[in-house]
Amino acid sequence: MDLEPYGDDWWVLADVPASARPGRPLHAEHVLGIGGATQTLIGAAVRPTVDTALDLGTGSGVQALHLGTHARRVTATDVSERALRFAATTAALNGQDWELLRGDMVAPVAGRRFDLVVSNPPFVVGPGTTTHVYRDSGRVGDAIGAELAAAAPHLLTDGGTMQYLANWVHVTGEDWAERVTGWFAGTGLDAWVIQREVADPMAYVNLWLTDVGESADPRRMEAWLDWFDAHKVEAVGFGIVSLRRAGHDQPVVRVEDLRQRVEQPLGDRIGEWFDRQDWLRARDDDGLLAARYRAADGLQLRQEATMGDDGWAVDRQVLAMPRGLRWSEEIDPLVLALVGGADGRLPLRDQLALLAAAHDVAPDELAEAAGPIVAHLVERGLIEPVTD
Ligand SMILES: C[S@@+](CC[C@H](N)C(=O)[O-])C[C@H]1O[C@@H](n2cnc3c(N)ncnc32)[C@H](O)[C@@H]1O
Repeated sequence: MDLEPYGDDWWVLADVPASARPGRPLHAEHVLGIGGATQTLIGAAVRPTVDTALDLGTGSGVQALHLGTHARRVTATDVSERALRFAATTAALNGQDWELLRGDMVAPVAGRRFDLVVSNPPFVVGPGTTTHVYRDSGRVGDAIGAELAAAAPHLLTDGGTMQYLANWVHVTGEDWAERVTGWFAGTGLDAWVIQREVADPMAYVNLWLTDVGESADPRRMEAWLDWFDAHKVEAVGFGIVSLRRAGHDQPVVRVEDLRQRVEQPLGDRIGEWFDRQDWLRARDDDGLLAARYRAADGLQLRQEATMGDDGWAVDRQVLAMPRGLRWSEEIDPLVLALVGGADGRLPLRDQLALLAAAHDVAPDELAEAAGPIVAHLVERGLIEPVTD
C-alpha cells in the first residue's frame, strides 16, 4: 500500500500503482491513488460551504477529504468493501468523520438529497466487463455518464451542484456533443460539460491496459478494439460534467470542446459560470440593455492584417482571455467597439446609441441584435455586469 503525504498535512491511503510494481497484476479491488483524473476532479470542484456533501465511488477517500473542509456532513460510498476500509483509514488519519456506505452508485443514498455531489466514477468505456473495479463500471459503453446525469435531479437539494468525470464515445456519423447533451434532456438541470481530451481507440485501450499493467496482453487489446469497431467508436472523449439544480423551466445545457485550453483549478470558474447563468436568466432583453458592463481584466485583442496598397487591411480580429478557460473567438468590428467601450459607466442601451450614431446604424436594430451577443459574452465572462 501507499500512504501518501498529501496537501499541507494530510495522509491518503491507496494502493501502489501498476507502474511502481511491474510484472505484478493489480488487485481486482485496487484502490486508486492520486493520479491525473483524481486531480482533475479536485481542481474542478466548486467549494462553497454547505451542509451536506456526497462522494460517489470514494476509493482512497481523497475527494471526501476535500469535501470535509467545506461541508458540515460528508457521506462517501463505494461498491468495494476494500476501498471503504481504505477510505475509513484516510478519514481517521486526518481526523475527519464521514458516513461510509457500501453499494452500487446511488443505491446506498436512494431517497436522500445533498447540497454537493462529486464523483470520479469508474468511467472507462468498453464492452461492460469488469476486471478492475476502480476502472470498470460493468456498464456497456459510456452508460455510466448518462446514468449519473439521470440520477442527479433526485440527488440534489434546490440549488445543489453535482460534478463528475466522464468518458463518452464519438461514434461515426454522430455528433458527440449532441449525444452528451441528450444525457441531460428532461433532468431540468443546468449543465456544463467540458471536453478536455480526445483519444483514438488504440491509444485509449493502450492507456487503460497499461494502467492495470496488462499492456502486453494482445487478447485483451483485440477484444476491446473489436468492441469499438463493432460500435463504430472512432474516438473517446474525456471531460468534466457540472450540473446545478437551479429550478428553472428552461435549463441551460452547454457541451463544449475545450481541449488544451483549460487551466486548473477550474472550480471557481465553474461556480461563476452557473452564477452568470442565473444572472442572465433573471433578465429579459430590456434588463440586459439597462445593465452596465466592464470588459474582463486581462482581455486581449489579437489581430491579423495584410499589408496592401492602402496600408494594413484587417483580416481577422479575435477576442481572447489568456487564462482560465482561455476563450477566444473571432468578432466583428461593431462587437469589438462594444467590448472596447465597456468600461462600466454607461448602461448598454446608451452605449449602443453612441455606437449606432458612430457606425450609422439604426439604434433599434442594433439594440435588438445586441441581446444574444451580450448574453454570450457575459456567459463566457468576456464582459462582466457591473453591480455597484
Ligand atoms: C476512479 S476510482 C475514484 C476513486 C477516488 N474517488 C478518486 O477520485 O481518486 C472509482 C471508484 O469507484 C468505485 N466503484 C466502482 N464501481 C462502483 C459502483 N458500481 N458503485 C459505487 N462505487 C463504485 C471503485 O471501487 C473506486 O473506488
